[in-house]
Amino acid sequence: MLTSTRILLIIGGGIAAFKSLDLIRRLRERGAAVTPVLTRAGTEFVTPLSVSALAGHKVFQHLFDLTDESDMGHIELSRSADLIVVAPATADLMAKMAGGQADDLASTLLLATDTPVLIAPAMNVRMWEHPATQRNIATLKDDGILFVGPNDGDMACGEHGPGRMSEPLEIVAAIEAALAGQETGVKGPMAGRHVLVTSGPTHEPIDPVRYIANRSSGAQGSAIGAALAALGATVTFITGPADVPPPAGVKVVRVETAQQMQAAVNAALPADAAVFAAAVADWRVASAGTSKIKKQDGALPVLEFAENPDILAQVAQMRAGRPGLVVGFAAETDDVLANATAKRARKGCDWIVANDVSAQTGIMGGAENAVTLITAEGAQSWPRMGKDAVARQLASRIAEALTGAQ
Ligand code: C5P
Repeated sequence: MLTSTRILLIIGGGIAAFKSLDLIRRLRERGAAVTPVLTRAGTEFVTPLSVSALAGHKVFQHLFDLTDESDMGHIELSRSADLIVVAPATADLMAKMAGGQADDLASTLLLATDTPVLIAPAMNVRMWEHPATQRNIATLKDDGILFVGPNDGDMACGEHGPGRMSEPLEIVAAIEAALAGQETGVKGPMAGRHVLVTSGPTHEPIDPVRYIANRSSGAQGSAIGAALAALGATVTFITGPADVPPPAGVKVVRVETAQQMQAAVNAALPADAAVFAAAVADWRVASAGTSKIKKQDGALPVLEFAENPDILAQVAQMRAGRPGLVVGFAAETDDVLANATAKRARKGCDWIVANDVSAQTGIMGGAENAVTLITAEGAQSWPRMGKDAVARQLASRIAEALTGAQ
């Protein structure tokens, strides 16, 4: 139920706007109060009259409408909601949001607000797949904007693929989840706890154009960040150049090298817990040049390595300000249990999540993981499951350890 929840619903200009009329009805059935905002393009698809009739509320349309401004300034309008929902979110509206533009009422509200925002994108598949839209999606996710959809399917324009707006009931479910996330931010097991998570590989430069990297996709780290945020934690997510996008609703810090990752971790402390899921390069090239190493006939370059800081060990062994729970990962190919147990002692961390990354397991870069959690009490092997499921289980164990809650 959404009893007495205040939703500010921004309806953008797309054919999917007709579904937003049903969305209003579904939200009101559940007890929510809906304040509608219609963009100029939105009025091409649905009329202000039908929107206001269904919402049982005046429709706000114009930035410089003096009556609206005296009724309620746009700043206040944007802040007097529990959640702002943009449905449909067009490519244009998303571009405006990503660029911080404010040239009409909807974009101004979105820039002026500190209320959580959930968007339901809807557009032609080519517009969705265009690199400009994909860049905007990444920016919006970094900014903590929540997404629902789009779905794959047939579109009004006759094409097929991702871009169909989620169905009204799917949007309702996402709204309920977003609000539950906020509520757990007040009442949930990780409420008020700060957790830092490292994720992804690091890139260690050889020269300005070449680098040494590893096969970590960042999938497990992103899933852990998402699972902790879903329990209400404030998450600082420090990621190397990963294949998988960072989760929504976390503070993202992007780094390239191990040294940058260490600096970002130190800057993010203090934390109640720290999860080191990054595959940090053990070595960097000792004297990475500022100019490109030239190919020379017959002479092969020789690289000298220097050891990278062990970020996990440094944090786990802090004398003052150590996080209450420090969790490391051990990606091993042989003697997983023995090596991981020794690693836990050597690094000084509280828990080690050990996994077998031998090529035949398909775990590195894959969607599944089979882990063993090693704590002071011993080792516990979890069945092979999706990385999301591993993340949720680990997040609830962390919540339990920190708060005693299950
Ligand atoms: O020593 P090894 O790389 O096997 O240890 C893996 C664990 O240590 C992971 O949790 C990883 O994130 C962390 N680590 C680190 N800094 C390093 C190397 C590893 O934080 N330089």
